[in-house]
Amino acid sequence: MFNFFRKKKVENIFHRFVKVPFEPEIDLFERTDYDPMFYRHVKVDDQDINPKLVKWFEDLGIKFYWFEAFYTPPYGGKIPIHTDTPEICDVVKLNWTYGAPGSKLLWWEPKNEKYVDSFQTEFGAPYLTIKEKHARKLFEAEVKKPSLVNIGMFHSTYNPTEEGRWTLSLPLMKEDGSRLLWNEAIDILGEHFDEEQY
Ligand SMILES: [Fe+2]
Repeated sequence: MFNFFRKKKVENIFHRFVKVPFEPEIDLFERTDYDPMFYRHVKVDDQDINPKLVKWFEDLGIKFYWFEAFYTPPYGGKIPIHTDTPEICDVVKLNWTYGAPGSKLLWWEPKNEKYVDSFQTEFGAPYLTIKEKHARKLFEAEVKKPSLVNIGMFHSTYNPTEEGRWTLSLPLMKEDGSRLLWNEAIDILGEHFDEEQY
């Protein structure tokens, strides 16, 4: 377990805006397999992503093995606090968020490890959860531009707006099929970070 209490100010090991020269060119709101009032996690077809975008990452040594998207409903909708991984770690994704300007991605830590529960996604992937009342907020960001996000840490979404919020999420992988970690992503993508950062 990471010890977040060694430093008073929480170091941003969670989020960076990245300048990506290509758009994914996908309209997730066109999907018919979601209810606008419920949160949703879907797989996205490889063919639906702009190949120029994929090529740009491949030239940096980053590969994709699957694509996915997450929907957060409006009017205070949330994706509950979770990790995308079976344990707390530093695995990253690149996210594009559409709709709901002002909505947020938030990062948390458990107040006590005993409150951490383990579940499986509908695709059979194990992950951790914790109730908000048992978590302490560490960081938050409005994902208004392409963003490198650390999703091996506990995170959640919050959408107080009147619009639904879709996030396209690209798990960043190495050529050997293992997951790219936060520090490795900083090394590779550092020169492409946006001037604006939290
Ligand atoms: Fe997640």
